Amino acid sequence: MDNFTFYSPTKFVFGSNTESQCGSLVKEFGGTKVLIVYGGGSVVRSGLLDKIKQSLSASSINYSELGGIVPNPKDDKVYEGIDICRNEKVDFVLAVGGGSAIDTAKAIAAGVPYDGDFWDFFSGKASVQKALPVATVLTIAAAGSEGSGNTVITKVDGMLKRGAGSDCLRPVFSILNPQLTVTLPAYQTACGAADIMAHVFERYFTNTRDVEITDRLCEAVLLTMINEVPKVIKHPDNYQARANIMWAGMVAHNNTVGVGRSHDWNSHGIEHELSALYDCAHGAGLAVIMPAWMTYVKNHDIMRFAQAAVRIWGCEMDFQNPENTAIEGITRFKNFLSSIGLPVTFKELGAKEEDIPLLVKNFGIGNGKTGGFVPLGKDDIEAIYRLAL
Ligand code: NZQ
Ligand code: ZN
Repeated sequence: MDNFTFYSPTKFVFGSNTESQCGSLVKEFGGTKVLIVYGGGSVVRSGLLDKIKQSLSASSINYSELGGIVPNPKDDKVYEGIDICRNEKVDFVLAVGGGSAIDTAKAIAAGVPYDGDFWDFFSGKASVQKALPVATVLTIAAAGSEGSGNTVITKVDGMLKRGAGSDCLRPVFSILNPQLTVTLPAYQTACGAADIMAHVFERYFTNTRDVEITDRLCEAVLLTMINEVPKVIKHPDNYQARANIMWAGMVAHNNTVGVGRSHDWNSHGIEHELSALYDCAHGAGLAVIMPAWMTYVKNHDIMRFAQAAVRIWGCEMDFQNPENTAIEGITRFKNFLSSIGLPVTFKELGAKEEDIPLLVKNFGIGNGKTGGFVPLGKDDIEAIYRLAL
């Protein structure tokens, strides 16, 4: 196991009706004027936004609002939010929604105290040193942004989807009420599930040896997803299954299961170009890319893929030819994704073969290589897109 520092200071408040504690929690963390950031209307329709406002008012906390954050959030709303915070002396940013609202809130929080253009954090020109405190009320188990220090934003000019991260962007608190996720359409639930599983696989496929504890934690999260997701696809109001998935989504990405080991993250990078170009759900793009990536890199460590097949997918080990076991595991993963209603090919996603050169160009690594498990160059990236056709 590698040396590591793990700092995860978020206070998680989990369970039914926990959103009513929002006002007192903001007060506990020193907020006096809040910017509420939310999406395209689901929290308005469900009545959640009103409940949050009531809870803030009951704790004598003033607020402004920034709604209309779209999935695969864009930079324009970040600039708008930074202006509101500066003009209205906002000292706390509260996201109510999914990864898109949360990531926008984080980018605003980082941008307010920064003199330059907030995009500098995403282009790599600067790193986030300080930020307004951010908190979340989560409505979809997916991106894991409620427990992570990461944010992903798309710059409209050039449709560049890029990430930034810092421990100071970890939410000070996150309210997780599984009941809030029952209104999710089955497709969004499935997309969230694919993202959660991808966050674990990005960590599971590692070159670090002797990582039994995190291997087993990864497997536990994946087995939970395999067990629980079909239940909520069938019965969206199954609270207990929603609860298990919601906590799995947090654990999958706050790095509990990834400390002390190298990660890969190429599937995420390859996917981000799909959701930037086609505006598809991130989880749907991952469902197309992950099995293709696995197929492409499996021979780098066939025994690790065989282990995944046996421990996660219940395959029988073929000791004569472990590659057969590895392939069977990847096939079962792909079938699972299909069974919960996700696309697993370019065609099913609505992506086009003729766009592959553009996707590779936008990936933007020139003649370099990237990835922590198997470093890949642009020809490899192209081959993976082609495997996903
Ligand atoms: O916008 P509204 O009306 O709220 O509708 C949303 C949106 O259409 C809807 N939704 C959310 N909760 C709902 C609901 N509909 C009914 N009932 C509810 N309870 O679901 C749709 C998707 O919402 P979004 O916030 O976009 O989903 P998600 O949480 O999957 O976030 C995706 C974004 O996060 C990024 C992705 O790239 C993508 O941009 N990621 C962020 C990460 C991070 N910050 O650590 C890591 C991830 O790997 C990922 O890249
Ligand atoms: Zn993801």
